[in-house]
Amino acid sequence: MNATQAKHRIDELSQSIEEHNHRYYVLAHPSISDAEFDRLLEELIRLEKEFPELLLPTSPSQRVGGTVTKQFKTVKHTYPMLSLGNTYSESELKEFDERVRKVITVDYKYVCELKFDGVAIGLTYRNGELVQALTRGDGVQGDDVTANIRTIPSIPLKLAGSDFPTEFEVRGEVFMPLSSFQRLNEALKKQLEADGYDELEIAEKLFKNPRNAAAGSVKMQDSSLVARRGLDAYIYFFQSEERSFESHFESLQKLKSWGFKVNEYSQLVDSLEEVINFLGQWDSKRHALSYDTDGVVVKVDSIKWQKELGFTAKSPRWAIAYKFKAASVSTPLLSITYQVGRTGAVTPVAQLHPVQLAGTTVRRATLHNADQIIKLDLHEGDHVFVEKGGEIIPKITAVDPSCRKKDALPYHYISKCPECGTPLVRTEGEVLHYCPNEMGCPPQIKGRIEHFIARRAMDINSLGEGKVELLFDHGLVHTPADLYHLKHDQLLGLTKEITDEETGKIRKVSFQEKSVDKILKGIKASLEIPFERVLYAIGIRYVGETVAKKLARHFGSMDRLMIADAEQLMQAEEIGEKIADSIVQYFQNQANVALIADMKKSGVRMESEVANEQLSDRLSGKTIVVSGVFTYFGRDEIKSVIEQHGGKVSGSVSAKTSFLLAGEEAGPSKLEKAKQLKVPVLSEQEFKNIIGQE
Ligand code: IVH
Repeated sequence: MNATQAKHRIDELSQSIEEHNHRYYVLAHPSISDAEFDRLLEELIRLEKEFPELLLPTSPSQRVGGTVTKQFKTVKHTYPMLSLGNTYSESELKEFDERVRKVITVDYKYVCELKFDGVAIGLTYRNGELVQALTRGDGVQGDDVTANIRTIPSIPLKLAGSDFPTEFEVRGEVFMPLSSFQRLNEALKKQLEADGYDELEIAEKLFKNPRNAAAGSVKMQDSSLVARRGLDAYIYFFQSEERSFESHFESLQKLKSWGFKVNEYSQLVDSLEEVINFLGQWDSKRHALSYDTDGVVVKVDSIKWQKELGFTAKSPRWAIAYKFKAASVSTPLLSITYQVGRTGAVTPVAQLHPVQLAGTTVRRATLHNADQIIKLDLHEGDHVFVEKGGEIIPKITAVDPSCRKKDALPYHYISKCPECGTPLVRTEGEVLHYCPNEMGCPPQIKGRIEHFIARRAMDINSLGEGKVELLFDHGLVHTPADLYHLKHDQLLGLTKEITDEETGKIRKVSFQEKSVDKILKGIKASLEIPFERVLYAIGIRYVGETVAKKLARHFGSMDRLMIADAEQLMQAEEIGEKIADSIVQYFQNQANVALIADMKKSGVRMESEVANEQLSDRLSGKTIVVSGVFTYFGRDEIKSVIEQHGGKVSGSVSAKTSFLLAGEEAGPSKLEKAKQLKVPVLSEQEFKNIIGQE
């Protein structure tokens, strides 16, 4: 295929892919299968690779992202991005209508739209192509997030039709659909749980609501990560020097015809009564939508009258937002139970009489900690208000005072572990209570073993589904190290009944010859698991997968890690005080030291292999100085990569330096010295070429 033919085919494919994209993400009416779509996209990507000069920024292949922006450019808005006045009641809405009526002397209409709860975005199109996407910022200037916005499949990169102005701007709301939000938070939660964070810390770290998640996503540095966040957008505003419409509603129809995603529930109405009717309907109907809304926007439909009404300093006089009240309901508090996690953290949970709220049945609400119980002043028999204000996890906002019984006793936080009876401790400055009986408290012991065998840790899946519990109950395993001492005869015939928490069904787990073999084989196979995962598996608090990798790379072995003090630990990449302290504390516990010695004896890997593995001799005889931050490699990682290819790393530039490997923000004195001594300065990309890494 020559370049002309390739261009033709690329155009054809791009158009077809964008059309299918539009059908899928905007119209929700796909006409080809996912597999067929993927085939078209693959062909396009292949051609663009073969003919890189033909790759356009508007190509649908660009929706997967790949641009890394360290700092977003600040750009002035062509038209300031204003916000809206808020109202919370019908009477305030009436006042708005009266203000409008004073200016408009004829009959007029309103457009009622849902108020999407996301982040405002301004998109500029030139010659039918998306050229710029700006966040609202302070309203006068915003951040250029074009690369990230291009990844949102419902935002057209190229417009359909031909009757659009040469240049114009649309505004809309980027939001995260509830399904994407749930997926994101679930993944994040899993990761944090595995990293040893307790429930309260996890609750703090998760995205509180889809709006925060959307805002965070739009500002991510790596657009390929944005592409995976499942964002969506509704467009609700058009502005151009070249063209104006008579009515806002008409402009929405036009936007739709050019390929924009315009919300289908916008409604043209004749009177304030109809506006109020729209509000009433959507106050409850909104809970069935697949995205969050926090109100309704009421806009004067006639553009001529909009201009007449004009703006205040902050917002248009022709539009107003009516905000929904957060869904709240009162229900009896049945009891407070306490959960003990793998780390020993004890979390109070309010057990509620099941109640319907915003489309789901609420049975429980977390109370976070002891202070929360005091703050809410919870008493036995209380009725409490549960609220879901944009947040997914319901919270108790207050006690219903009208239902408090005269002689009701206040709830007190427990003083002993509900699982093992050990007095709880609360360290100064911490909000949580802990059960200190690490080695004797069943949920902590079982939790640690469950974590140890998890897929991303030692991956002993032959021990899943309640088998750990069984081994623990029979006194066969107390620590992960015990797994490696299990014998065939100890396991054969063990039986236990397990009740499924969700369904209440009882299952029997019994070990037959075959499953015993499988279990022992699984345990043996875990001896091949690399050191970095062993380090993660032993469950040191705050040492998640990434941290474990960095530690393994930096220290190379458990022995070296064990003797490191906090200061030495903090020398490793991304290790701060909190993690360092946690590691030191872990190894101060002799039981942990014994556990590791025991596992080592059984053959569990306690040394990094990768760090010593020789990959090539492309850098042999070379002395290299590294400075700055890199995109593909971590600071420690790039050093071991150099060694793996036979090179030597040195700290300062001298005449003996073969080259200075400079990342972003490389030290100016090193660069200067290299210049003086005529030492070549190589970029990360050039380095990757040398070591033959794509
Ligand atoms: S119109 C000049 N319509 O609400 C008028 N805004 O509090 C521009 N929003 O900044 C806004 N849904 O981010 C409009 N259907 C809708 C909206 C909407 C959500 C957001 C928008 C705006 C904020 C104002």
